Amino acid sequence: MADLDDIREGKKFGIGVEVKNPVFHVKGADNLPWGMKDRLTRIFNPESGRTVMLAFDHGFIMGPTSGLERIDLNITPLMKYADCLMCTRGILQSSVPANINKPVCLRSDAGTTILTELNDNVVVDIEDAIRMNVSAMAIMLAIGDPAMEAKTVANLFKMADWGSKYNIPVMGVTAVGKDMARDSRYFGLASRVCAENGANIVKTYYCDGFENVVAACPVPIVIAGGKKLPEKEALELCYKAINDGAVGVDMGRNVFQSENPVAMIQAVNAVVHKNFSVDEAYELYLELLK
Ligand code: R5P
Repeated sequence: MADLDDIREGKKFGIGVEVKNPVFHVKGADNLPWGMKDRLTRIFNPESGRTVMLAFDHGFIMGPTSGLERIDLNITPLMKYADCLMCTRGILQSSVPANINKPVCLRSDAGTTILTELNDNVVVDIEDAIRMNVSAMAIMLAIGDPAMEAKTVANLFKMADWGSKYNIPVMGVTAVGKDMARDSRYFGLASRVCAENGANIVKTYYCDGFENVVAACPVPIVIAGGKKLPEKEALELCYKAINDGAVGVDMGRNVFQSENPVAMIQAVNAVVHKNFSVDEAYELYLELLK
């Protein structure tokens, strides 16, 4: 019970008691407006501060990629284990149940397919993104590509302008061209360029020296999984990335091309949100196969 002095000092009513605002759980987002924070909170779990994004946008470049032929059969059963869905608007509108109640990171640019060289790139109209109620917009940056660098940086810049107007976060996606080094200098540069140009989240790849990439990037980093690996190796990749400062994954093929995608996404989730070790996560994966 408050004593007389406290009451006189107004403490009983909370007057004079310092109220500290909790620090927002997403890196670099403290100064963003409420709408941005709300959308980021839908993507990044406020308790762990992390996210498992399920990426199934591959079809816009690769067509019916193995494991993605049937969104209803291959991907829908995985959705409940993901914190966020990353796909194109075509797949969102045709194949993702509207009552799934998961935040969407919309693949918001498009270019050429694997059949031709990347030589042009367009972006989704912001009004379409708003109509689809997306929680973030993903834009690829082809850093170091003489033909595409300026165009893709301009795309990200434009989406960041639109994003800040309507409080929709932008995720910069660092592409890796065939001739590009996959090292921390390259990913560090590409990630920082994304953030400097307004990206609120960066998606990049794990590499040696990844902690330096994270340290020099003022916004959260999630990693792509890349080509399919054996399950334990994919879990090790997640573990190392999280351990070195990534706040989640935006993973596709290592989940939907797994022998058992439903078990795999749960094992990935345990590494990301519950700090499972590689062995613990792999054990969980095997357990879920039974
Ligand atoms: C590729 O077209 C996309 O950007 C993918 O979303 C990204 O590469 C993540 O998927 P994966 O884990 O299969 O590399």
